[in-house]
Amino acid sequence: MKHLLSVRDLDRAAAIGILDLAEDMADVATRAVPKLPALRGRTVANVFFEDSTRTRLSFEAAAKRLSADVITFSAKGSSVSKGESLKDTAQTIAAMGVDAVVLRHGASGAARVLADSGWIDAAVVNAGDGTHEHPTQGLLDAYTMRKRLHGEGSRGRDLEGVRVTIVGDILHSRVARSNVWLLQTLGAGVHLVAPQTLLPGGAAEWPVTTSSDLDAAIAAAPDVLMMLRIQSERMHAAFFPHEREYARQWGLSDARFARLGADTMIMHPGPMNRGLEISAAAADSKASVILDQVTNGVSIRMAVLYLVLSGGQE
Ligand code: NCD
Repeated sequence: MKHLLSVRDLDRAAAIGILDLAEDMADVATRAVPKLPALRGRTVANVFFEDSTRTRLSFEAAAKRLSADVITFSAKGSSVSKGESLKDTAQTIAAMGVDAVVLRHGASGAARVLADSGWIDAAVVNAGDGTHEHPTQGLLDAYTMRKRLHGEGSRGRDLEGVRVTIVGDILHSRVARSNVWLLQTLGAGVHLVAPQTLLPGGAAEWPVTTSSDLDAAIAAAPDVLMMLRIQSERMHAAFFPHEREYARQWGLSDARFARLGADTMIMHPGPMNRGLEISAAAADSKASVILDQVTNGVSIRMAVLYLVLSGGQE
C-alpha cells in the first residue's frame, strides 16, 4: 500500500488485513517496552491544517511505538498565515526528508491532490480532508465494533449482519462517509438519522437507509449507535433552529439512553459536545466505547503507517 487516501480503495481482504495487523500492534502495547523497531530511521510528518487533539496525538504515538521520528506542523502559527500554499508547505516539509506525510486539510480531496501531484515522494495518509473522508477513523471504528462483538475471536472476521445507526450532522461529516463505505465493504448495514437539512442530497445513492426519527431508530435496537459532533465550524447557515431543539430531537438524552438495548454499543469520534449530541450519562456508561475508540486508534495508525512505509501487504 503506497498511500491511504480513502476507504473506498480497500476491498474486504485489504480492510480485514489492516484490522488484523492492528490486533498484532495492540499486543505490542501490552509489553513492558511497548515499542517495535520496525520504522527506525523513518520520519513521519504530521501536517495539520485543521485543529485536532486525538488524531494528531494518535498518529504521533503510533509512529513513536514503531520507532519512527515525528515532526509536526500545525497551520496555526505557521507561514500559512503569510499565504503559503499546500504545495509550498508540503515541499518545504518534504525537503527536510520525510517518508510519510499524515495530512489533515479543510479541502475535500486535499490528500488525493498531494499524493497524485508529484510534489513530494512521501507516502500520504489522509487524516481528514474537509467533509470527504477520514479513513483511519473508519478503520478504528470498525476495529472497535469487531473487538466488542467478537473479542479474542475477531481476527479474520468482517462485520456481516451488524446493524449500525449513525446520528447527527451527516452532511459535514467525513467520519460518517468513511464509516458508510467501509461498513458496506465489511458487510454491515447502515442506517443514517439526521435532520433533513443535515442529510446530503447524495445520500440517496449511498448503500444506507435514512430517516429523521431517532426514537424509531432506537426502538429498532441497533448493535451500534454512533453519535456525531455538530460541525459548527463548517456551517455557514442555520441548519436547525436552536441547539436546544437539536438536542431534543437528535441528542442521545438520558431518557433515550434508558430505552437503548443493553447490548447496543455507543460510539462518538470525539470531540463531544456533552448535553448536545450525547448526555454525560450515556457517554460515560458501560455501553460507551468512546475511549476504546481512542485506544484502538493508535493500533490502527501503527498498522497503516507500517503498511505504507514498509510497502508490505501483510
Ligand atoms: C473528527 C474529525 O475531525 O473529523 N474527529 C476526529 O478525528 N476524531 C470528528 C469531529 O471533528 O467531529
